[in-house]
Amino acid sequence: MIKAGVIGWPISQSKSPIIHGYWLNKYGIKGSYEKIAFSVDEFDDGVKKLRDDGYAGVNVTAPHKEAALSLADHSSDRAKMIGAANTLVFKDGEIHADNTDGEGFLNNVIQRAPDWNVGAGPALVLGAGGAARAVISALIDAGVPELILVNRTRARAENLATHFGRRVVVANWVDAVPASGAVSTIVNTTSLGMLGCDPLEFSCENLNPSILVTDIVYNPLETDLLKNAAQKGCATVDGLGMLLHQAVPGFEQWFGTRPVVDEILRERVLEAL
Ligand code: ATR
Repeated sequence: MIKAGVIGWPISQSKSPIIHGYWLNKYGIKGSYEKIAFSVDEFDDGVKKLRDDGYAGVNVTAPHKEAALSLADHSSDRAKMIGAANTLVFKDGEIHADNTDGEGFLNNVIQRAPDWNVGAGPALVLGAGGAARAVISALIDAGVPELILVNRTRARAENLATHFGRRVVVANWVDAVPASGAVSTIVNTTSLGMLGCDPLEFSCENLNPSILVTDIVYNPLETDLLKNAAQKGCATVDGLGMLLHQAVPGFEQWFGTRPVVDEILRERVLEAL
């Protein structure tokens, strides 16, 4: 029996057990995937105990993603670059940390908007938090020619831009809508528009139908940004698939099968939102 799970505080809201449980069942793998509630104080010793108890690894969610990176014996380049880990693999008594959010973002876009060409023009990224780091690095790795970054706190965007070099330029939030007419994609990486958060106030008036608009928010699935962009004829991609695709590398590492993100899985998680 291969054991894995997801650690957070709180953890009751996590949809990861549905995702991994679905795949364990689909591929007939003898394994378990459970929710694990560790407070900040319990995290380090708790992870080491799971390792010593024979777990294959864990996903890590808020507020532990930075602590997970610090605790690891080895970290992937992308986890180091993002400054946080969401996936830990225990191998030969050592802890390996990875961050799969950027891969999840990109594979979701590839699956849901296969005709979109990353090289066709600049990307406009809204937000400069942890999710933005993952999205920006994925877009750069995929070959985006330029990236315009806007954030409420401009200094945070500038700090982030220095990590990525000249391909990332920082603009003021008020310039985001004017800039949006000349990009190939727009990505909302902020929590704005999510149930219980403030709305994202972003006019889609300048958008032409060739622009792909993506949101990392998945509750609601259809955010105002995506609705307004669809009305302008744009292709849109919601954030649910990023949640599903970011789970793929962990499952593969722990359980030995690379799982497929299919429509049934999407529906299962949607029902649970
Ligand atoms: P995550 O790791 O999930 O990306 P985060 O690091 O807290 O979370 O980042 C949240 C992002 O949403 C940031 O870009 C934040 O802007 P600031 O850097 O200015 O805080 C953005 N954000 C959150 N609430 C916002 C609001 N009410 N208006 C504008 N931007 C907001």
